[in-house]
Amino acid sequence: MDKLKLPENITIIEVGPRDGLQNEKNFVPTETKKEFILRLKDSGIREMELTSFVSPKWVPQMQDAGDIVESCLTSDSRDFVLAPNERGLQRVYETGCRAVAVFVGVSNTFNQKNINKTTEDSLNDLEPLINELKERGYFVRACISTAFYCPYEGKILPEDTLALCKRFADMGVDELSVADTVGRANPLEAHALFTLLKSELPGLLLTAHFHDTRKMALANILASMQAGVDRFDSSAGGLGGCPFAPGATGNVATEDVVFMAEEMGVKTGIDLEKISQAIDVVKPFISRPVESGYYRLYELNK
Ligand code: HMG
Ligand code: MG
Repeated sequence: MDKLKLPENITIIEVGPRDGLQNEKNFVPTETKKEFILRLKDSGIREMELTSFVSPKWVPQMQDAGDIVESCLTSDSRDFVLAPNERGLQRVYETGCRAVAVFVGVSNTFNQKNINKTTEDSLNDLEPLINELKERGYFVRACISTAFYCPYEGKILPEDTLALCKRFADMGVDELSVADTVGRANPLEAHALFTLLKSELPGLLLTAHFHDTRKMALANILASMQAGVDRFDSSAGGLGGCPFAPGATGNVATEDVVFMAEEMGVKTGIDLEKISQAIDVVKPFISRPVESGYYRLYELNK
C-alpha cells in the first residue's frame, strides 16, 4: 500500500468554549468559562472560537459573550466570535475582537431552525455584512453547516455544498469551516468532498469540522488529511453539539486529535497534559461524561 499522505503540522481551531458549551442546559459560570479558555490557550491553542454574539433567547448559554471576549482576547491567538446578523456584528464592533465567524447551512430546513431564515435569505443578508467586515480589516471565517447530511433533509449533495462555499469565496471570506453537523459522514465522503473543495477553491483556508456522533470523526480527519486538509476544528473533552441539530453529539475531542496526530509524527504544538487540565476546570459543570479516549486514561492515571 502507498504511504499515507500526512501534513508536517496541523492547526487545531479549538471550538470547545463555543460549540462545546452552547448546548449545555445548565449555565456554566462565566469565570469558569474564562479559566477554561485561558488554560486552553496556555496548552498551545492559537486559534479558538471564544463565544457567540447570538440571541440569548435562542442560546442562553452564550449570554455572557461580551464579558468573555473582554477578558479572554490575547494578541498571541486568533480569537473568533460567531455572529449571525447585523445585531451580532454591532456587538462585535464594541469589542477588540478581530476575527468573526458567520454560519449558514447548506440545508434550508436546518438553516431556518438555526437562524430563522432560508439559506438564500441568509446569504443575501450576510453579503453586505461581510463586505463591511473586510473593509474594516477583519478575518472572516464562514462555517458551512450540514455540508454532508442534514438532520431534517438527509443526504446533502457535494455540488450543493460546493455551490454554497463558492458564494462565500466570492464574498471574499478568508476561511471556510466545512461541517459534518450531525456526525454522519464516512471517510470516503469526507475524502471526496474535501478533494473537490481543495481543487475548486485552491486559494482559501479550508478547515474540517467533524462532530463525533457515530465515532467516525478521527477516521474522517485522517481521510481529510489525504485530501490535503491541515486545519481541524475540535473541542476539548469532545464537548458540544448544536441545539438545533437533534441527536448530534460533541465535536471530535481535541486531545484525541492531538494524540493521533503527534503519534503519527504530525506536529500540533499542543500540550496534552495542559489540555486535560483545562477539561478538569469545566467538567464539574458539564451534564454528560467526558468520554474521549485520551482524557479517560489521564483520569485513570491521576
Ligand atoms: P430572530 O428571533 O429571527 O431574530 O432570531 P430577530 O432579528 O427577529 O430579533 C428578535 C430579538 O432578538 C430582538 O430583540 C433582537 O434585538 C434580538 P427584542 O427586540 O425582541 O428584544 N437579537 C439579538 N440579540 C443579541 N444578539 C444578536 C441578536 N439578533 C437578534 N445577534 C437569530 C434570529 C439569528 C438572532 C437567532 O435565530 C439566533 O440567535 N440563532 C443562533 C443559533 C445558534 O447560535 N446556533 C449555534 C451556532 S451554529 C453551529 O453550532 C454550527 C457550527 O458548529 C457548524 C456545524 O457543526 O454545523 C458552526
Ligand atoms: Mg458544530
